[in-house]
Amino acid sequence: SRLRTNVAAHGFSTTNSVKLFSPSKINLFLRVVRRREDGYHDLASLFHVIDLGDEMEFSTSPHATSDTLTCSDPSIPSDGSNLVIKALNLYRRKTLQSMYFNVRLNKRVPHGAGLGGGSGNAATTLFAANMLLGSPASNEELLEWSGEIGSDISVFFSNGAAYCTGRGEVVEDVAPPVPLDMPMLLVKPPVGLSTPRIFKSLDLGRRSTADPRVLLADIAAARGVDQGSAVNDLEQPAFDNLPELAALKQRLQAAGCFRSVFMTGSGSTIVCFGADTVPDFLRREEQYKDLFISPARLITRQPGGWYAPSGLW
Ligand code: C5P
Repeated sequence: SRLRTNVAAHGFSTTNSVKLFSPSKINLFLRVVRRREDGYHDLASLFHVIDLGDEMEFSTSPHATSDTLTCSDPSIPSDGSNLVIKALNLYRRKTLQSMYFNVRLNKRVPHGAGLGGGSGNAATTLFAANMLLGSPASNEELLEWSGEIGSDISVFFSNGAAYCTGRGEVVEDVAPPVPLDMPMLLVKPPVGLSTPRIFKSLDLGRRSTADPRVLLADIAAARGVDQGSAVNDLEQPAFDNLPELAALKQRLQAAGCFRSVFMTGSGSTIVCFGADTVPDFLRREEQYKDLFISPARLITRQPGGWYAPSGLW
């Protein structure tokens, strides 16, 4: 069991702690449906949870009057602006619990990447807090609440493959459309992209016209993402903001070793789908020496539990 109970020597103080894998996600396609009155955008997107993730350790802190967050990456804020702390505040507000927590976060997922790393941390936090307090809230409640602090947290309360609409927080579980052993390579330039900025610079006239339900059916029928189905309406504004990213995508496609190449979320990660071999030019050329490069696999949620990457955890 991942749940450890440590009873202190004097016998009445109980500390619970749990260590969990905090996954990230990719978008197999992402259509922007409309710009909304509230400044957000309605999306239609096929999300899939992946095995690139962070390590998180949670413990209850029964006598504390605030949460503490310790992160391996000092550039990440550990105050109330961090989604982990927002998730704990949300959890207490919704459940009327008063417990505070200590959280350790060992970061591996890059930020500004379109991988939902921070969102995965928030989802993992909601799951962990609920687990440590005896699971008073249902999965459905955690899913619903999570939409209040971010658009792409809810997807982590799916089974791992989900068709998401609304701001992204309306989650419909789908059968995994692609075999889970399908290899892929994630490639991200050192510069990340800001999600609000990418949405702001989206030119609605330059979107795809593909029907998202057709994209979903095509991917499921092909058991994979072909270049024609790999639609992401946020690529155009991302490439406008970062022209090197368009060039990188082209080079990765031209390498000829992948079934399809597409950006995830608001970038700047490019997903190379169908193989996880690193193309020679990435190793050879000086301009690519600082790229984040990682193989990844699609994962689903463990029945009744949380996510774990196959083999490694
Ligand atoms: O909901 P979240 O905090 O993840 O969104 C960050 C920003 O991205 C929002 O403030 C908004 O500018 C933009 N966004 C959007 N439409 C969405 C999701 C996010 O415009 N569906």
